[in-house]
Amino acid sequence: MIVKMFDLARDHKEIKDKILHIAEKVLTDGEFILGKEVRAFEEFFARYIGVKHAVGVGSGTDAIKIAGLAFGLKKGDKVVTTPNTYIATAMSLSLHGVIPVLCDIEAKTYNMDVGRLDEILKKEKGIKLCIPVHLYGHPCHVDEILEACRNHGVGVLEDACQAHGSLYKGKKVGGFGDASAFSFYPTKNLGCYGDAGILLTDSDLIYENALMLRNHGQSARHVHTIEGYNTRLDEIQAAILSYKLEQLDAWNAKRQIIAGWYRKGLAGVPVVLPEEESWAYHVYHLFVIRAKERDALMKRLADKGVTTLIHYPTPIHLQEAYRFLGYKRGSFPKAEAAAEEIISLPMYPSLSEEEVGYVCDTIRTFYA
Ligand SMILES: Cc1ncc(COP(=O)(O)O)c(C=O)c1O
Repeated sequence: MIVKMFDLARDHKEIKDKILHIAEKVLTDGEFILGKEVRAFEEFFARYIGVKHAVGVGSGTDAIKIAGLAFGLKKGDKVVTTPNTYIATAMSLSLHGVIPVLCDIEAKTYNMDVGRLDEILKKEKGIKLCIPVHLYGHPCHVDEILEACRNHGVGVLEDACQAHGSLYKGKKVGGFGDASAFSFYPTKNLGCYGDAGILLTDSDLIYENALMLRNHGQSARHVHTIEGYNTRLDEIQAAILSYKLEQLDAWNAKRQIIAGWYRKGLAGVPVVLPEEESWAYHVYHLFVIRAKERDALMKRLADKGVTTLIHYPTPIHLQEAYRFLGYKRGSFPKAEAAAEEIISLPMYPSLSEEEVGYVCDTIRTFYA
């Protein structure tokens, strides 16, 4: 049996007719940039998460960049985030001279350790913004992060790029901080057919700044009030995302069911399964287990036709690009230990119980 890590072609097959119809309608209408589809999706997504404003942009990376700059970050300002995230969490802003300060994670959820965050905020001067990542689809310790940041006059930008629909104490993540960023990269829980992203905020000021920053700094046609970028959500992608957003809750529920199949199939096997806090609704963007024999297990799975991935094999502070930050191996023991042992198993809504059973049996046989 072949079980892919993601299967976008299969996911697409289920909604193909509808998607082609939507694309055809936008093509026929002939409006492609910042038109009614983008506005409709922005309103829909803002309402879905429960915030006032949304600004559709070209990627999740740009959503973080534009949100940070719209918040007022300047060269030399610092942001605090975790080392075990996708590189874009740090790189979106570090390329603009913003300095990432890293905070280790807790082993249980792989998210920001709030005790460590508090210590860093007490010690390190110049931090303007905290970027907690709701990694793999499990929410961070939102209340504690908000309180620590409030106490130190630091803003919060949620990196919710892996957490569309995830709930913290019953409320959607992405609606807690000064702003939040989502990616619609094709494999995400809400993915489009290319690159796209969105930033959300309740702040009128961040919203107004973000509108200009995504469109050449323009405040009115041919009036360029500030310097800005061209990073706009496309009309076709927006129209497709509006349709897919209607399915998101059902797809997330299916991911929960698949996670349940994995838990049942891997019960008693000596791997560490993902934890769900009692206050969390985990949307399983990724189903990440931990195994001491990670590399051999991945090879066995590959030999048996199962693709797996590592999210992420090298923490940010050990990447060549971030050598200048001055961290070293040992700086973040929990993130480093996780990077040695984690494996992401196949996870997408169209995965069947038989396929999950096959993955679990392969792992069980490996340990037998
Ligand atoms: C946690 C996290 N942050 C940021 C990004 C960047 O999003 P994009 O790939 O849409 O630029 C991603 C997506 O890959 C992500 O997973």
